[in-house]
Amino acid sequence: MDNNKDFEKLIKNDRDLHQARSWRGNLLGYLDEVKADPSIAKLAHARLYDVIMKIGVRDIQDSGDPHVRRLYKDESIKVYDFFADEFFGIEKTVSQIVRYFHAASLKGEESRQVLYLMGPVGSGKSSLVEKLHRGLEDSEPFYAIEGCPMFEDPLHLIPRHLRKEFEKMLGVHLEGDLCPVCRYRLKEEFGGRYASSSAAKIFPSWTSTPKAIHES
Ligand SMILES: Nc1ncnc2c1ncn2[C@@H]1O[C@H](COP(=O)(O)OP(=O)(O)OP(=O)(O)O)[C@@H](O)[C@H]1O
Ligand SMILES: [Mg+2]
Repeated sequence: MDNNKDFEKLIKNDRDLHQARSWRGNLLGYLDEVKADPSIAKLAHARLYDVIMKIGVRDIQDSGDPHVRRLYKDESIKVYDFFADEFFGIEKTVSQIVRYFHAASLKGEESRQVLYLMGPVGSGKSSLVEKLHRGLEDSEPFYAIEGCPMFEDPLHLIPRHLRKEFEKMLGVHLEGDLCPVCRYRLKEEFGGRYASSSAAKIFPSWTSTPKAIHES
């Protein structure tokens, strides 16, 4: 019985915390949020790169381990702590992957390319992707158009001919178009009034659990 109370308390605290951090509003409200902190509108590559870098990075030679020196000679290879506890001996591959996310986050050519992992059976391809997935799940919340199956950025609602001006006012780069579902809803539900479309803050770790469970 006592156990039941503990579970109930844990669930209630989690729900209260979630509610306290939640945000819901229309596009205009979201624009105010972006103006106050343009980093909330960062795109997927930059988000993932920040998740990786947040934990820390060091040079493989800094460990002073003679085995490492023998294996890598004086080669300077970065070790990303985000991966270091789970993956061993693939520092060069991990470095390449992080370099891809870095370049893409700076809007280089890589941002338009697909990252393709190729390697022998059991070499960690799926595990690397799962690790990135978990990193994103635990990362900070992002904002999305409410009801969008792709959780797309509410900034997609801004029509192309106004984007230059919005970019200047907000200090962020705008790209991407509305998905077909949002385009349909904008026309049918909001009568084309994009400023009234609703947006909400999404907590990645909550998106994997059905809404009804959170609200029960
Ligand atoms: N460099 C590594 N360090 C630690 N564990 C590793 C490493 N490479 C693979 N593993 C482990 O080996 C197992 C198999 O890896 P995984 O399933 O990710 O391989 P895969 O490349 O996706 O294989 P497949 O081609 O069969 O899909 C996992 O448990 C993974 O954690
Ligand atoms: Mg696999």
